Amino acid sequence: MIVLKSDDEIKRMAESCRIVAEVLEEVRKNISPGVTTKALDRIAESHILSKKARPAFKGYRGYPASVCTSVNEQVVHGIPSGTKLREKDIISIDVGVFYKGFYGDAATTLPVGSVDKQTEKLLMITEKALEAGMAKSVAGNRLSDISHSIQECVESKGFSVVRNFVGHGIGRELHEEPQIPNYGNPGEGPELLPGMTLAIEPMVNAGSWEVDILNDGWTAVTKDKSLSAHFEHTVAITKNGLNVLTKL
Ligand code: MF3
Ligand code: CO
Repeated sequence: MIVLKSDDEIKRMAESCRIVAEVLEEVRKNISPGVTTKALDRIAESHILSKKARPAFKGYRGYPASVCTSVNEQVVHGIPSGTKLREKDIISIDVGVFYKGFYGDAATTLPVGSVDKQTEKLLMITEKALEAGMAKSVAGNRLSDISHSIQECVESKGFSVVRNFVGHGIGRELHEEPQIPNYGNPGEGPELLPGMTLAIEPMVNAGSWEVDILNDGWTAVTKDKSLSAHFEHTVAITKNGLNVLTKL
């Protein structure tokens, strides 16, 4: 069952999502060669706690940190560690927050220093794919219109979409129905309705879409070691159009 939210509930979700956006901004400012992913996790966690919110990922199915930091060929769910970022790396930061009864969830992928043209293109196309998915997040469309537009945007540029992980409904739970695959035919699945709150999150690989999970049980990496990018926003569909809750 897809839980619809009232305007008032969406307002409250926006508060949680605002903290997520602030954390991403804080982390962005601190990304540079030599910084460890663990240091980024601490920065994120202190900001979340300073807002009297709770890091949503910590303890979720035993996940050990407040954010996910996925570097280079890591797709999602990278665990912060003592590894230092190096010039030319790319790093995805995924943040989840629980505040006053509601969750917010967003991710962005950033270059460390300067990266080559093809890598820049991977980041740009993944963000564009998220925007394409959001553009289809309109009442009256079908759920898979989002999926299809993301796949189309990515594959037309020669990249591939990860199949093993999906976007999701979000609200009083971190993961609610529906699941939102980043691929599929248009015109299928439930009709999009005002009050739906969704976390849309394309994961895009420079090479093949296939992924492996490392021995830590969490970190997803591309099978062919190609680079991978991830962008995510929590959005609310309303009768007045789309509200991107995790944008500052
Ligand atoms: N954005 C991801 C998701 O929606 C992050 C979850 S990390 C986890 O699943 F640690 F909480 F699993
Ligand atoms: Co998510």
